[in-house]
Amino acid sequence: MVAINQATNASADARGDITLSGGKRFKRLERPSLEYTQEVAEATAPLYEKVKHHIPEIEWPVHAPYVYAINKLKKERNAAILAHNYQTPEIYHCVADIAGDSLQLAMEATRVEADVIIQCGVHFMAETSKLLNPAKTVLIPDMRAGCSLADSITGEDVRLLREANPGVPIVTYVNTSADVKAESDVCCTSSNAVQVVESFGVDKVLLIPDEYLAQNVALQTKVKILTWKGHCEVHERFTAEELLAYKEADPDIQIIAHPECPTTVTAVADFTGSTKGMIDYALGQKPGAKVLLVTECSMASNIQEQAPGVEFIKPCNLCPHMKRITLPKILDSLLEMKEEVNVDPLMAEKAKLAVERMVNLKN
Ligand code: 13P
Ligand code: SF4
Repeated sequence: MVAINQATNASADARGDITLSGGKRFKRLERPSLEYTQEVAEATAPLYEKVKHHIPEIEWPVHAPYVYAINKLKKERNAAILAHNYQTPEIYHCVADIAGDSLQLAMEATRVEADVIIQCGVHFMAETSKLLNPAKTVLIPDMRAGCSLADSITGEDVRLLREANPGVPIVTYVNTSADVKAESDVCCTSSNAVQVVESFGVDKVLLIPDEYLAQNVALQTKVKILTWKGHCEVHERFTAEELLAYKEADPDIQIIAHPECPTTVTAVADFTGSTKGMIDYALGQKPGAKVLLVTECSMASNIQEQAPGVEFIKPCNLCPHMKRITLPKILDSLLEMKEEVNVDPLMAEKAKLAVERMVNLKN
């Protein structure tokens, strides 16, 4: 189950306005027509170019009216859409204002000027945006979009870990609830975990809750890493055997893995990094290269346009939580101002410090 902090549903008043927590009022907007008209076809044609290799032409009339309506409503609501690299191509390329890995999204969340943030990702990402922007309205199109890592640990678990390991700094992966972040010294993402661990200048650090990320980090630092037994249900499923079978079939294939994979998997990869690190590495390949992306399946589709000469091979592991976010749900979010993500203010203040310490770490 997803840990949900203080989720509040919008309510409509007599005038039809929508009132959210703290009394914020939003105009009720008319539900747009979802017909595939000439106007919609023309306005969305440039966007279709970006996704045409992933969405058959016959399906575009289903997506296009949503894309058109969402992009119009976004302006009326003064909303920004933040999307993770694992979102589907029609979200990533056609409605997102900012797309990136967890670190990029957290950093961009500190710069957003819009009044409303629609988080196309999972719940902990929406919480992170809220922590960094307490005055803004943060919405997630489906409150059930959770994460197996975030669900593996609670704030109480972290308090017990601190008691059992006095004086040992606690570095928490951002894939955790605000409650867990609030009990931590600093957060990290997969792209800065080594840097964060080493920033304390001590010989022992707790890096939680992803056991495999911790083991992968331990291979890159002299700092002793203690961890927790949390796993990502997408990345834990990859095996070295399946990757070696690809390599055997084509020895030139480049294997690029995410550090949430077991170390037996990263050991056979040519490169290991966060989703942004994987993208940068993949885009640096020569035309004709074959690249196996050992991560959530949508990412290869999302970056294919930027690397037309590269052939991506995708072992298709999907994150069921990321896939809860769809165009119809984003449209409903904008129309009905749901689902609002709130975090208890005291908890938010503590969790924000842990996120800010990470964001402010100098490169
Ligand atoms: P990054 O995008 O930070 O690599 O995170 C991967 C992930 O699993 C997010 O849920
Ligand atoms: Fe969580 Fe893994 Fe899904 Fe990311 S891909 S949200 S870590 S379950």
